[in-house]
Amino acid sequence: MGGLDEAFIQAPEHRPKTNLADSGDFAFSDEIPTIDLSSLKDPDCDKTAIATEIAEACERWGFFQVINHGLPFDLRRWVEKAAADFFDLPMVEKRRVKRDAVNPMGYHDEEHTKNVRDWKEVFDFFLQDSTIAPATPEPEDTELIKLTNQWPQSPSDFREICQEYAREVEKLAFKLLELISISLGLPGDRFTGYFKEQTSFLRFNHYPPCPNPDLALGVGRHKDGGALTVLAQDTVGGLQVGRRSDGRWISVKPIPDALIINIGNCMQVWTNDKYWSAEHRVVVNTSKERFSIPFFFFPSHETSIEPLEELISEENPPCYKRYNWGKFFVSRNRSDYKKLQVENIQIDHFKA
Ligand code: OGA
Ligand code: NI
Repeated sequence: MGGLDEAFIQAPEHRPKTNLADSGDFAFSDEIPTIDLSSLKDPDCDKTAIATEIAEACERWGFFQVINHGLPFDLRRWVEKAAADFFDLPMVEKRRVKRDAVNPMGYHDEEHTKNVRDWKEVFDFFLQDSTIAPATPEPEDTELIKLTNQWPQSPSDFREICQEYAREVEKLAFKLLELISISLGLPGDRFTGYFKEQTSFLRFNHYPPCPNPDLALGVGRHKDGGALTVLAQDTVGGLQVGRRSDGRWISVKPIPDALIINIGNCMQVWTNDKYWSAEHRVVVNTSKERFSIPFFFFPSHETSIEPLEELISEENPPCYKRYNWGKFFVSRNRSDYKKLQVENIQIDHFKA
């Protein structure tokens, strides 16, 4: 197996197709919609045209890109540089801020998705320092804990840049939440209350070149758990989305300075399956490292996730039973679940 640690090896049915005769898996596609947000610069603009585009994208794909989104380009360059400089540090430095069994934030290079190791290293930090979450995934346990960020000594301006980027990406996430709400025929602030003590976090992903990109994945197939994700990726490419209509893997075309938005599990449940939380994964390659920065927009721990009353009816009964966000979040984050020979928690477990 050419020296690749077997922990990284995907089951045959999950390996990317690298056969040149079928380059379908790697050819960049234009199919995923790109939405121009420039009209939002006018505070009095009519948001319904954008909301209509968003509705279509969320139903068909659960993924879209946004351009002219208002996130400052300079800040994006700085945060990309800070992330690259951090990953460039000697391993002993990175391990000083390693996540542990209690605190899921910090550096981590042993993440497993569905029990197979990902070909990546990550650095995570909460938007809110500190963030309140349940102490354990056990349903009966009501204890809460305060989780805090871990910051490296260098780069020296790392923390400041991270926090500034986080504030800007949060603003955009709230704008998108409003547009999604409008797209569902609901008041613009319908979801806002769920985010008062949000558990959102940012992640820096680094995917090094991989000797066996045909056997491993940068991130194995998964769905994001929260409300939505705002992802900044570089121009290398590698993100693939499972098409809702037939499950085929579609490679997202990198558009410089665009941001990728995807619907998470909470939004799929709130909309009773109208909007789609797509499965996605990251393929790696032998020559180019890749960086990406997702912002996972997550509700407050106490939020009950269930189909919205306004969106259900006799003809459209709820597809999901209610669940608690905090317990879902903690269960997903358990650093030991990789050792459990079970799948991690999925919304399908709450199907009515
Ligand atoms: C993730 C993810 C995609 C990417 O971190 O959840 O899906 O392109 N990342 O890095
Ligand atoms: Ni993801």
